[in-house]
Amino acid sequence: MARNKIALVGAGNIGGTLALLAGLKELGDIVLFDIAEGMPQGKALDIAQASPVEDFDAAVSGTNDYADLKGADVVIVTAGVPRKPGMSRDDLVGINTKVMRSVGAGIKAHCPDAFVICITNPLDVMVGVLREACGLPHEKVVGMAGVLDSARFRYFLAEEFKVSVEDVNAFVLGGHGDTMVPLVRYSAVAGIPVPDLIKMGWSTQEKIDQIVQRTRDGGAEIVGLLKTGSAFYAPASSAIQMAESYLRDKKRVLPCAAYVKGAYGLDGLYVGVPVVIGAKGVERIVEIELNADEKKMFDHSVGAVKALVEVVKNMDASAG
Ligand code: APR
Repeated sequence: MARNKIALVGAGNIGGTLALLAGLKELGDIVLFDIAEGMPQGKALDIAQASPVEDFDAAVSGTNDYADLKGADVVIVTAGVPRKPGMSRDDLVGINTKVMRSVGAGIKAHCPDAFVICITNPLDVMVGVLREACGLPHEKVVGMAGVLDSARFRYFLAEEFKVSVEDVNAFVLGGHGDTMVPLVRYSAVAGIPVPDLIKMGWSTQEKIDQIVQRTRDGGAEIVGLLKTGSAFYAPASSAIQMAESYLRDKKRVLPCAAYVKGAYGLDGLYVGVPVVIGAKGVERIVEIELNADEKKMFDHSVGAVKALVEVVKNMDASAG
């Protein structure tokens, strides 16, 4: 059987890390695409030269031509600009909207059967723009944010409880921005919900509240430290987990920016919710029960995503 093909559109910090991880996990052959000339070719060669040392077999190539995306099973999109200190993800909307449209056209022309994972920010809005531009079915186009936000939440909780990250489960819903909704009630250590752990004296409500806020600010904390760009190792790991669930039909339950129509009272919007990812793409939206406080936070987050969707619409209107 031929190997799968993974196309990475954007060969910057996240794109390069994605390529290395896809190689290490032997997910398939890898094509790195970028508008910068030479850079994707150079990174591809560098990663290919790691393969004899790391013992993985994969053809790794770099390109500036969308035609090389032909036949890709998975496309992971990081093309665009990352934020700098003091910027919010939303500040990137103008430039990255244009980038998503050109990437969408490339996907439409060369790999319309792929499963597409968008990472470019502001995520929830960019994945919607990309979906429209590529014309693929909604279940084949998804955004990576929830896995990353939940990973940050899990890491902070594991540190607080002094337990293995493997035993911490956590959920973050809503948009990938300051309004994201870390769900404490659905977060647990080996099945024991966090509110019970507080009662058991493992932590305090105050500390958990601080962790929730640190999770919301997780991206900004890293931007502030790096100064020249945004996080890339954990975002790449998170997208690879989604790609693996699709390629191996694992049916993982993962929080992703998915197109929600009907569930959660939404009538057609990309936003972070738990989904099942398998061979058909987003196979199911998992609608969990939210209490009044959680619903209020989720609705607030949905409002922020909708407001940014309007910004894109107004940009189009003013562009004529
Ligand atoms: N088509 C293809 N690639 C493009 C385009 C385009 N129109 N415009 C820019 N790029 C490429 C750049 O040349 C660069 O190599 O996208 C790459 C982005 O890489 P980085 O600047 O290193 O950014 P990265 O950290 O990888 O983040 C990419 O993901 O998390 C989000 O906010 C982040 O939107 C940003 C994206």
